[in-house]
Amino acid sequence: MLSQDSKIIVVGGGVFGLSTSLWLARAGYKNITIYDRCPFDKNFYNPSNGCDGASADINKVFRMAYADKVEYQQLAIEARDIWQAWTETVMASSPPELPEGLTPEDKLLHVCGSYFLDEGTVLRGYYKDSLAAMEKTAPEFRKMLFLKLGKDNAAEKARLRKISEKWVEKYRVIDGINNGNTNGFIDIQAGITIADKACVYARFLCEQAGVKFVLGDPQGKLSSLIIEDDGAQKRVKGIKTCDNLSHFGDLVIVAAGSWTASIIPEAHLTVEATAGTVMFIDIPKERQDLWNKFHPDNYPVWSYRKGDGDDRISTPRTKYSKDPIDTVPLYGLSRMKEVIAQGFPELVEFGFTDSRLCWYTDSPDHNYVIDYVPNYSNSLFICTGGSGHAFKFLPILGKHVKNQLERVPDQFSAAWKWRAAEEGKPNNGLLEGETGPREMSRVEMADRCDFKMEKVQWK
Ligand SMILES: Cc1cc2nc3c(=O)[nH]c(=O)nc-3n(C[C@H](O)[C@H](O)[C@H](O)COP(=O)(O)OP(=O)(O)OC[C@H]3O[C@@H](n4cnc5c(N)ncnc54)[C@H](O)[C@@H]3O)c2cc1C
Ligand SMILES: *[C@@H]1O[C@H](CO)[C@@H](O)[C@H](O)[C@H]1NC(C)=O
Ligand SMILES: *[C@@H]1O[C@H](CO)[C@@H](O)[C@H](O)[C@H]1NC(C)=O
Ligand SMILES: *[C@@H]1O[C@H](CO)[C@@H](O)[C@H](O)[C@H]1NC(C)=O
Repeated sequence: MLSQDSKIIVVGGGVFGLSTSLWLARAGYKNITIYDRCPFDKNFYNPSNGCDGASADINKVFRMAYADKVEYQQLAIEARDIWQAWTETVMASSPPELPEGLTPEDKLLHVCGSYFLDEGTVLRGYYKDSLAAMEKTAPEFRKMLFLKLGKDNAAEKARLRKISEKWVEKYRVIDGINNGNTNGFIDIQAGITIADKACVYARFLCEQAGVKFVLGDPQGKLSSLIIEDDGAQKRVKGIKTCDNLSHFGDLVIVAAGSWTASIIPEAHLTVEATAGTVMFIDIPKERQDLWNKFHPDNYPVWSYRKGDGDDRISTPRTKYSKDPIDTVPLYGLSRMKEVIAQGFPELVEFGFTDSRLCWYTDSPDHNYVIDYVPNYSNSLFICTGGSGHAFKFLPILGKHVKNQLERVPDQFSAAWKWRAAEEGKPNNGLLEGETGPREMSRVEMADRCDFKMEKVQWK
């Protein structure tokens, strides 16, 4: 049985590992150690400095709109309060009160507004459901959503103008996309989180709560689980790290993001690594006009979905892998170029400066996978399946992970339970395997010269 004295080993110091450890430690669990192969105490979750986990990024969208998934919507609303409290605390701190890698200027959450866009004039089902769910379950938050349907939205503009003229400007800045033929809404209480800095802060809070860290390769890198198998019962006794040391514990929590299935082989039909294409545009320092224009104070974050295209590919390989990769699929890249040329022509001259494949950990149904792994006598726990939407829950996720660990049923227990993709049921492409169309060798990759934007061909 799990107790506050149990020795708990957590593999992975991203969102899932940090949030879980923070909530456990704050609830009185005394013996928690996080192992991560990345030296976060030295590189501070900086994605251009050797970090390739999903959580180590420049920024991530913070949204509350979740269509009919009201539990996640409510969780995001709850998370928002903590994000704001963290942001205020950091900004009110003096530099020596903060950990290395974080300064009082680092604003963890920017409530810059978040635009959800789709092509055409008919409101996308997901957006319609989001509006309806909020209307019903969080009406105060629904009032802060402003619809965009086609070009003229006088009533919504008037409603925004009552809040501030700034929001009317933000409401219009994306008008260039698809020549204004877009629909969707802006949520003026959503925005972006500064991901790497938020992780640095969460790690700091973990340390303050007594969580220990073993970071870097080889000492923080798991090489294998130590499994005791007496035939009738398997039990995980601990982990072996790449420095050849064994670490024993009562419970091992694997929160290794897209690497999870390579640690727990039973999870290969439960979670799958799929890549998202991330591109960077560096605006030169002397272009203060553009820095100002795109500052979160003046610009919302936005997402634009065109049709149903959602091509992603399979098996973690990054800039920092043994077999490194520094490019992205051509398909995603050309779509980005098209939208930028339409909506943001002032950025075309800079081209893309860098790229990144950010690895999602997809579950069969986009719900997380947070449960004991069957047949290990409660000694092995899986905590992953972010499916591209877990960053926003960094401050709160662990509250509900703790419930699953303690077997206290809550609103997420059913959705997060251990499960495997099944043949003949919707499974998010999880059974396509190596012969599927998204397998990386079948995806056409971009050349560095494709990073230039002059090359856009107009249809
Ligand atoms: C392109 C992209 C965009 C996204 N955008 C958003 C967004 O806008 N909003 C949002 O809310 N969410 C977003 N997400 C989702 C969010 O980033 C993830 O759900 C979340 O960061 C996953 O956290 P994690 O802890 O599971 O994984 P990770 O952050 O990958 O952490 C896993 C950790 O395990 C470590 N590890 C792996 N193997 C080993 C080993 N053998 N030994 C020791 N350590 C190991 C890794 O080093 C890593 O630090 C996005 C994800 C991607 C990929
Ligand atoms: C954690 O557990 C280990 C192994 O049982 C023990 O040696 C150590 O003293 C414990 N640490 C704390 C802080 O309880
Ligand atoms: C770990 O053990 C292996 C095999 O015994 C050996 O090759 C390797 O050098 C050792 N690594 C370290 C860091 O001691
Ligand atoms: C657990 O054991 C049962 C009974 O042997 C088996 O049917 C099941 O597939 C096992 N589950 C996993 C995830 O291995």
